[in-house]
Amino acid sequence: MLTIFERLKDIALEIDKAIKNEDLGYSDQQNATGDEQLKLDVASDSLIEHTLKKVSLVHSIISEEKEEIMPVNPDGKYTICYDPLDGSSIVDVNLSVGTIFGIYDRGNLSGSGLRAAAYIVYGPRLELVVAVRGKAPRHYRSGARGLFSSRAPVRLNEKGKINAPGGTQKYWSPTHKAFIDSLFQEGYRLRYSGGMVPDLHQILLKGGGLFSYPGAQDRPKGKLRMLFEALPFAMVFESAGGEAIDDRGRRLLDLTPEHPHATTPCFFGSKYEIGKLREAYGV
Ligand code: AHG
Ligand code: MN
Ligand code: MN
Repeated sequence: MLTIFERLKDIALEIDKAIKNEDLGYSDQQNATGDEQLKLDVASDSLIEHTLKKVSLVHSIISEEKEEIMPVNPDGKYTICYDPLDGSSIVDVNLSVGTIFGIYDRGNLSGSGLRAAAYIVYGPRLELVVAVRGKAPRHYRSGARGLFSSRAPVRLNEKGKINAPGGTQKYWSPTHKAFIDSLFQEGYRLRYSGGMVPDLHQILLKGGGLFSYPGAQDRPKGKLRMLFEALPFAMVFESAGGEAIDDRGRRLLDLTPEHPHATTPCFFGSKYEIGKLREAYGV
């Protein structure tokens, strides 16, 4: 696993360079979900593919930008699912974006098969957070020579102050709207950039809060994909002492996607906010 984490550092430095220096425009392709792909989505995807293909532990890879699972090494132990560039719609306005990885036991693409998770934040500084089951996530930040230095592990408080509500408000259910309003009434402050990586990273480093991406009228199953987005962050939140559930109150890490690109309504937070959500939704 450590070999894989080392390669993620290389990937972080390379994609960071590409974001800073390369063309931010659209390619002429769409991905498996029908999203228009940026040239950067495609470039980041192939960079990750080429790096991970050289790691013998990797059995196969699946990317948000690829239709199918891609075999790598028949003797490898893990399938790595990744979102090469999260926040494609905000990269042109120079907000922070990220890359997300879920490292699954081969043949078990589900919450229970997830062995480790990691994400990279391309912000004013380059950062990497890695989580394995049962240990507080490790946090790395770029230093003067472009290397990473280890910082304190990531731990959430019981309760936070941030509310990051995703989706289109017009399509929220009355239950969800009432719940989000109740948090603001309690004094929570709005922090939402439209990139799940920086939005969740902020909650993790500021000690707590809630990020939600509910099922709503326009998207009954939410927007965020289980294998590449929701499950990896579920592992990071649980390892940091928080919780991650769906709109039926089930742990995201107990779920299995019906297909590699399946989405789920999802909520990530510290214990207090997730408790409030359960009360409001009655789950
Ligand atoms: P991607 O760029 O990989 O398609 O994912 C973007 C995701 C996520 O980062 C964010 O939380 C969500 O889309 C934002 O959606 P809205 O624009 O609906 O808020
Ligand atoms: Mn994404
Ligand atoms: Mn993406």
